[in-house]
Amino acid sequence: MKKIIINGANGYIASNFINQLLKENYKVIALVRGSKKISADERMFKVLSEINDEEYISNDKLTVHSYSLDEYNFGMPQEQLQDIFNGEFDYYHFAASLKYDRKSKNEIFGTNIDGLKNSLGVYTEHANASSRFFFISTAYSCGKMDGLFEEKFYDNADISAFRNYYEQSKRYAENIIKNHIEEKGLNAHIIRLSQVVGDNNSGITKTDYGIFDFAKRMYSLSHRYPNETVRIKVDPEATQNLIPINLVVGYLMRTVIIKEVPQIMNFTSKNAIKNRHILQSVAKLMPINIVPVENLKKAEMSPLERLVSVGMSFTGSYININLQFETKNTDLLIAGNGFSKHYSLETEEQSIFDMLAYFVGNLPAPRGSKTTRKNEATV
Ligand SMILES: NC(=O)c1ccc[n+]([C@@H]2O[C@H](COP(=O)([O-])OP(=O)(O)OC[C@H]3O[C@@H](n4cnc5c(N)ncnc54)[C@H](OP(=O)(O)O)[C@@H]3O)[C@@H](O)[C@H]2O)c1
Repeated sequence: MKKIIINGANGYIASNFINQLLKENYKVIALVRGSKKISADERMFKVLSEINDEEYISNDKLTVHSYSLDEYNFGMPQEQLQDIFNGEFDYYHFAASLKYDRKSKNEIFGTNIDGLKNSLGVYTEHANASSRFFFISTAYSCGKMDGLFEEKFYDNADISAFRNYYEQSKRYAENIIKNHIEEKGLNAHIIRLSQVVGDNNSGITKTDYGIFDFAKRMYSLSHRYPNETVRIKVDPEATQNLIPINLVVGYLMRTVIIKEVPQIMNFTSKNAIKNRHILQSVAKLMPINIVPVENLKKAEMSPLERLVSVGMSFTGSYININLQFETKNTDLLIAGNGFSKHYSLETEEQSIFDMLAYFVGNLPAPRGSKTTRKNEATV
């Protein structure tokens, strides 16, 4: 059985993927940043324990290496690299900065572009005829385009074509891979994810990204200022494309199993969830009334509404969009093996509510909290 080499291995998506690979007896090499306080090995063990409700026991199929994405040869001696990259393997590049703010531009570009170039350098040095390079990108590398985002390469564009540097960095990174494919014959694939949420069977949600970050902020405010009504600048009919982690892992496992994988795949949900439903779900779970108002002006906001608005500086740019993603190639990846009998390709409103309920239910009670959680809808 080939081995799977993964960087950014302790991250949310990679660690869930690794968990499944180990269940299916694959040999996995995990590349993780270590620190003085906690080793790479401990970090990986901790995250796998969290996924398995503290019941994870170390597995001899998993080897963890501490690496440095921005150093030549990952800062590793040649013998260690030869040991990692020998035999038949696939390589998955997950590591990325998911920051959005302008002042993190250098970090975003350093990690998502220079880090990728370094990773490609190490990979090409050691790849053999059967190895494949999988780059984890984002469906939001579409930027501010209208219409269908196809499973093809798009040209680099100025920052004005994107919502933030994260999106732009991923577009640039995809085109670096495109050049390696065209000029060096790199055997590479691009996987673009939309917003990855929790598990749509169990509701278990261990990410605080996107809508969960929003829920966390609202939770904290709702306990400081209970039972207030806040208006937020949101189009209730606009949508979020939310893809459950178990479906993402299912797709990733197909990329491991299938020999001829399409070059670019949009791993996105077949349907999108309206903001109205997300806001109603959040309001059901905490003592707050949320009223979406499409054209709310800053000058008209109460002090509390301004606080909410500042906290939404990231989510805000994703709140009034209705994106369309092509999934023809992803459909090919799962064709003919009964995949859709095991996984729902559409994200249900109820499962998003269940994930939010799990997430909010596991948030620590805010300090000095005067309230309990609310069970009834108020919006
Ligand atoms: N989550 C989503 O909804 C979503 C949506 C679209 C695309 N994606 C893509 O999916 C991939 C994984 O995302 P995720 O949600 O699993 O993110 P995550 O949990 O934040 O994991 C990111 C990983 O990248 C590593 N990393 C960040 N900066 C690094 C650096 N300078 N050097 C080495 N490693 C570094 C992190 O290591 P440390 O723990 O050491 O920081 C971590 O292992 C990313 O490429 C992301 O762009 C995610």
